[in-house]
Amino acid sequence: MRKPIIAGNWKMNKTIDEGLAFIDDIKARVKDTDVEVMLFVPYTLLKTMKDYTKGSNIIIGSQNVYFEDQGAFTGEISPLMLKDVGIKHTLVGHSERRQYFNETDEIVNKKILKAIEHEIDVIVCVGEKLEEREAHREAEVVRTQIAGAFKNVEADVLNRIVVAYEPIWAIGTGKTASSKDANDMIAFIRSEIEKLYNEDISEEMRILYGGSVNPSNIEDLMNQDDIDGGLVGGASLKADQFVDLVNF
Ligand code: 13P
Repeated sequence: MRKPIIAGNWKMNKTIDEGLAFIDDIKARVKDTDVEVMLFVPYTLLKTMKDYTKGSNIIIGSQNVYFEDQGAFTGEISPLMLKDVGIKHTLVGHSERRQYFNETDEIVNKKILKAIEHEIDVIVCVGEKLEEREAHREAEVVRTQIAGAFKNVEADVLNRIVVAYEPIWAIGTGKTASSKDANDMIAFIRSEIEKLYNEDISEEMRILYGGSVNPSNIEDLMNQDDIDGGLVGGASLKADQFVDLVNF
């Protein structure tokens, strides 16, 4: 049984006070869920929110991590620094990182390997651009991203890795992939994982959908066989909407 995940990605939003007020607002309302509840928050909020959610079922994670332990890498954050503030989860390869900060599949792969080395669990994001989908190249694009991301990743650490399929044309646009299209692509990703590893691993791997997930489409998405949860941007910023997503 794959445990569902509802993960919020706050991107570059919220101050510490706003983050803590959000926790006050949702904590009691998400505590009885069977869903894994995660919030990926800006660096400046990590320690305070991690401390503030201690003893709750809310997991606080980072939106990024660098692939070196330390050194002359101005502006980057090391996995050791995340661990230092108690963080054990990170996103890697979000499409905004790929698009605006030139993250390649090779960089994504190095980040995954480094995070895992330090026992930080990873949600790795993949997904095609609009023009790639229009050219019917989405499967090829996602296959390449998956193969790149998982290069040299040993089978015995795969329980620490979750995949999020986020078609770029559906992010922040209000345009969700249909639940069938999302499920088809996620089933395709599962089959690629099976090819790289084996069937047991592919059946156990959790694969999320992201892209304009909101309280009105979550149930339909979660009813699909292969979709194990959502990685949510905009709707995760509003406490009521986030609670509705968790209790879909
Ligand atoms: P939206 O939910 O705002 O479309 O963002 C999706 C996303 O990028 C989550 O990582």
